[in-house]
Amino acid sequence: MVQIGAGGMGRAWLETLVRSADADIVGLVDLDLGSAREAAASIGRPDLPIARSLTDLAIDPGADAVLNVTVPAAHHAVTTQALLLGLAVLSEKPAAPTVAEALSLAATAEVTGQLLMVSQSRRYFRQLAAFRREVRNTGPVGLLSNQFFRAAHFGGFREEMAYPLLVDMAIHPFDVARYLLGCEPVAVYCDSFNPSWSWYAGDASAVALFEFEGDARFEYTGSWCSPGAETSWNGSWRASTAGATVLWDGEGAPVIEGTGAADIAADDAPEEIAGALAEFVTALRSGAVPWGEIHDNVGSLAMVEAAVRSASTRTRILIADVVELAYSQALAADERAAVHDQLRGWGSGSAGLDPAARLERLA
Ligand SMILES: NC(=O)c1ccc[n+]([C@@H]2O[C@H](COP(=O)([O-])OP(=O)(O)OC[C@H]3O[C@@H](n4cnc5c(N)ncnc54)[C@H](O)[C@@H]3O)[C@@H](O)[C@H]2O)c1
Repeated sequence: MVQIGAGGMGRAWLETLVRSADADIVGLVDLDLGSAREAAASIGRPDLPIARSLTDLAIDPGADAVLNVTVPAAHHAVTTQALLLGLAVLSEKPAAPTVAEALSLAATAEVTGQLLMVSQSRRYFRQLAAFRREVRNTGPVGLLSNQFFRAAHFGGFREEMAYPLLVDMAIHPFDVARYLLGCEPVAVYCDSFNPSWSWYAGDASAVALFEFEGDARFEYTGSWCSPGAETSWNGSWRASTAGATVLWDGEGAPVIEGTGAADIAADDAPEEIAGALAEFVTALRSGAVPWGEIHDNVGSLAMVEAAVRSASTRTRILIADVVELAYSQALAADERAAVHDQLRGWGSGSAGLDPAARLERLA
């Protein structure tokens, strides 16, 4: 793989690639060559080909795929370039800053026939998989909730964003809610706000209530400026199902209340970004559709965009409306002709994302 982006998260990915038995790094790209050199040296690979862009890589690295760990604003351009060069892409979240750009990426993946998967690393926890098994065993779910409270001092871009919690963090629990419930969100009402003592310029706290297909509700309460009694980074989960209440603190073993059952056994699957990498490699080898495949991942990004729109307009927002508006924005954007034609061929955003319709287009 060629990795693009050698910042904070880029370093974590480099270490994961070096430890992986399934993947290797053959080139490193960053606008900041000094940072790339330092990162390459830090993993004992000072000889690694380094460049400021994928097309500048001096030696043909013979890569199968690109790992995009650049800042979100660069995701669309970097991923598009890699796909058009005939490379599969594993991208850090978010796929792109907007749903419209993510739809354009989905169409580009179709045009090039390349796999584009978004790494939603908080989907890959053994105890989360165990929690999900028990939620499914005791379901259906009436109310799923996630409480997230941290007092996080990052400095940098997060402290300047308008909606740092919703845009930079909440995509993780939103994505996990889809994984746990196994169905799609329909609508959201969200209140986003910034407590008087917050050290963030934008809203560091939010409460969101999503309606899902099948009438389940997902409630998210989060704050990034909440000193004391912090939750885990996964937050604290509670699923109220027909047969039980299943609890997960985001770290230890899930607990089942109401059935007398003991601990839920976890498997030994790789976790966090190593889990995402394993899923990507398996998908490349087998052709299976991975969690985080771009068409599917738009569902999680649309939850974020819908929550922000709800908070800013103080109205209930339909997820389908977000997708269709994004579709018209993607069509109006200055795209390459092939991508534009592919998007237009979808007919609508929902048809573009529908798994069965996508398979038909591939056939
Ligand atoms: N999954 C997680 O838990 C998690 C945690 C942190 C960050 N992230 C994600 O990882 C990504 C990177 O975050 P970070 O904290 O490492 O940011 P960062 O600012 O530390 O690093 C980003 C790097 O990308 C480089 N870059 C920017 N535009 C580029 C371009 N066009 N071409 C080549 N290089 C470019 C910058 O020079 C910088 O070195 C973001 O999408 C972020 O959301 C995910």
